[in-house]
Amino acid sequence: MDKLIELFKDIYDENRTGSLIKAIAGNLRKKSNPCKKVTIRPILLQGKLLFQAEYHFEKKVTHDNFDSEEIIELCLRLMQEDFKQMNIQTVEEDIQVLASKPENPKIIRKKADRREAVNLEHNKEKKYIIPDNKPCPFLIKLGVMGEDGKVFQRHYAKFRQINRYLEIVEDVIGYLPERKEKPLKIIDFGCGKSYLTFALYHYLKLIKDREVEIIGLDLKEDVIDFCNETARQLGYAEMKFLRGDIADYTSDHADMVVTLHACDTATDYALINAVDWKSKVILSVPCCQHELFSQIKNELHQPMYKHGILKDRFTELLTDGLRGLKLEACGYDVSMIEFTSLEHTSKNIMIRAVKGEQTKKSLLMEKAEAEYKALKEYYKVQPTIDRLK
Ligand SMILES: C[S@@+](CC[C@H](N)C(=O)[O-])C[C@H]1O[C@@H](n2cnc3c(N)ncnc32)[C@H](O)[C@@H]1O
Repeated sequence: MDKLIELFKDIYDENRTGSLIKAIAGNLRKKSNPCKKVTIRPILLQGKLLFQAEYHFEKKVTHDNFDSEEIIELCLRLMQEDFKQMNIQTVEEDIQVLASKPENPKIIRKKADRREAVNLEHNKEKKYIIPDNKPCPFLIKLGVMGEDGKVFQRHYAKFRQINRYLEIVEDVIGYLPERKEKPLKIIDFGCGKSYLTFALYHYLKLIKDREVEIIGLDLKEDVIDFCNETARQLGYAEMKFLRGDIADYTSDHADMVVTLHACDTATDYALINAVDWKSKVILSVPCCQHELFSQIKNELHQPMYKHGILKDRFTELLTDGLRGLKLEACGYDVSMIEFTSLEHTSKNIMIRAVKGEQTKKSLLMEKAEAEYKALKEYYKVQPTIDRLK
């Protein structure tokens, strides 16, 4: 075993980062072993070198991350108990461990000529639009990262959410009007403390060099004061925050409407405004969809609805399904995509709607309207989104 300990210490040595490409343990000792193969790769997670073991079972693959000491222990255990062979690829060598007799393994080493360095970053640390370890003024101001650009551990989920949001924005940017004299007008309904609104400004104005006018609206005065003061200190001149109710807000137009976690029917009023203004893009993450809970009636489903939690989940989906159909009936291409939500981990569906080119009612719009009506009648509900004509 000493030979193996020495070998594993060598290949999993943190100072040799960049050498190991992968190690694969295979050739089972007992065919009945549920795990058929284990692949190990180095990864960088939040700047820390770890080793990821991928366990291949018959119908699933699972993963676990280990530091360098733990991975040595795991490999020794794998070779003693489960597998007879391990093939290790490093930049410099191919190493074969043959351990039919675990107490006396054979190690065969062959020089390799792989000049490619191991790309740990690519090898699983995600490339973010706003990177970690690089100072970004609005993230420093909002306390997500320090002056040195390092994201605080406790805010990593927020940091990921911001970047996920920007990836979604990156995907829709092509649907927004081309550069022209007028800046892009974007309204964020129910902006709250506006981490994501500031991220949008940073991305469009400072990364993409677009002229923008961004308005954040929220019911809460303290939140609006905080956001206006933060924008002033950051020098984000083309962004302002207003106090008000989404349902009463009036404007002549908006190229894009955003509404992230605005509660219950506040989402509907945001969508109604966006459609009235013929906004090109709508990004909406609904939450607290309570409206249909007290309305829904369906004999067949009744036995399911006696469980409040199921009725609640079902009406959430129905609410968003109806919103999606209504937007399609208004000429939008709609996709429901996954968004990372901090507060409501199960409530992480984003409605992404992009205005199609059609000027009059198309067959698809008529079909969506008919489906919307049928669904509404089937469940005997009258959602606020119905006001959209
Ligand atoms: C959960 S927070 C979300 C904040 C932010 N959009 C985000 O996703 O991080 C919801 C915000 O919507 C605001 N809001 C709810 N109903 C609203 C309405 N009818 N008009 C304006 N703002 C509203 C609340 O005051 C709150 O700040």
